[in-house]
Amino acid sequence: MAGSGLAGRNQYANVRSPFVRLTELLAGIEPGKPLINLSVGEPRHPMPSFVAPVIATHIGGFAKYPMLRGTDRFRNAAASWLGRRYKLPRALDPNKEVLVLNGSREGLFLASIAAKRILGERGGKPAIIVPNPFYPAYGAGAEVTGCELVALPAYAKNNFIPDYDQISDELMARTLAVYLCSPANPQGSVLPRETLEKVIARARKHGAFVFADECYSEIWLSDKVPTGALEACGANFDNVITFNSLSKRSNLPGLRVGFAAGDERFISAYSELRNVSAPQVPEPLQEVAIAAYSDEYHVEDTRKLYREKFDLADKLLGKRFNHKRPEGGFFLWLDVTELGDDETAAKSLFEDAGLRVVPGSYLARTSADGKNPGANYIRVALVDNLKITEEALKRLASFRK
Ligand SMILES: Cc1ncc(COP(=O)(O)O)c(C=O)c1O
Repeated sequence: MAGSGLAGRNQYANVRSPFVRLTELLAGIEPGKPLINLSVGEPRHPMPSFVAPVIATHIGGFAKYPMLRGTDRFRNAAASWLGRRYKLPRALDPNKEVLVLNGSREGLFLASIAAKRILGERGGKPAIIVPNPFYPAYGAGAEVTGCELVALPAYAKNNFIPDYDQISDELMARTLAVYLCSPANPQGSVLPRETLEKVIARARKHGAFVFADECYSEIWLSDKVPTGALEACGANFDNVITFNSLSKRSNLPGLRVGFAAGDERFISAYSELRNVSAPQVPEPLQEVAIAAYSDEYHVEDTRKLYREKFDLADKLLGKRFNHKRPEGGFFLWLDVTELGDDETAAKSLFEDAGLRVVPGSYLARTSADGKNPGANYIRVALVDNLKITEEALKRLASFRK
């Protein structure tokens, strides 16, 4: 055990889908009211209107294998969007520093394998550091690379931001990558610029990569616009890769288009690995993505709708379940201690109120000391329209009151 404060160091390597576990938990139970599914983070807002015409125009592209790296047009569009969205020290080179992905999930998973290939054995057991709770693809990457998964707990008292200062030099020296998630799934907290700078400096000093999962970057719920990891890099993008996607930004979770951008050395080796292993992205879908990255109106509409839903949550829930409006993302992360543990609460909400929510412990690791930072929480995805969301929030607010 390196460092004394690593309470989140995890001993259990299995990675399972929280949704499969939820289905098992609720097997045989009927929802007590018309079902409202608040479990999956799948935006159910309208798709942008340009999707069908763009696909129709570029339909011929389905007749050929796409290039793994993405079209020049796509990489240019992604690099230009990054340049407009963030205050970058310099423009990204779309040829060397951007790569199309089939959604960010596969990219985040395969990134661990690329990191292992690039860095090799680092002396001692290689490690992957993630926040706890965390998106399961990070854990799956650690598992297939035989890395120790070090899950740093994120607690309410620290605005759900892990204590990155507790990572010892010994651990950092054998770490392949630090995964960051901002805005965070599930808690919605945004990493301050200073934290990003500190983590990046630390990773660089020890030769590790920083994988910044920023797929919720466009969903901010106040006026505070989330800082991106590439903004906190200084003059170059060494060791830092951002992962983004249109699933949440443009309500296109079924399009399966995202990208990775940053460190040229990483992108090159990652492309090489992906060339023999990863799904390519069909060109007509890249064309939709180009249109999506060139338009901010639909993104503003999306943000407005999420804000209205969180306004409703503030009004209807008040401080119940320790509700506090998150800075970003589209989840409520509610402390359901008053209903029993998180599994009991999820079962009761389904059985008595027809609400399907994810027990928080399913999204996090139980550490060696038996603590799970998701225990006693539920995750509630506010992804439906206003009317359904209002009904769900009313049922939640009045539950066993
Ligand atoms: C934190 C986080 N990262 C990555 C993803 C992957 O999204 P996609 O593959 O649709 O880009 C999700 C999806 O829910 C997520 O919540």
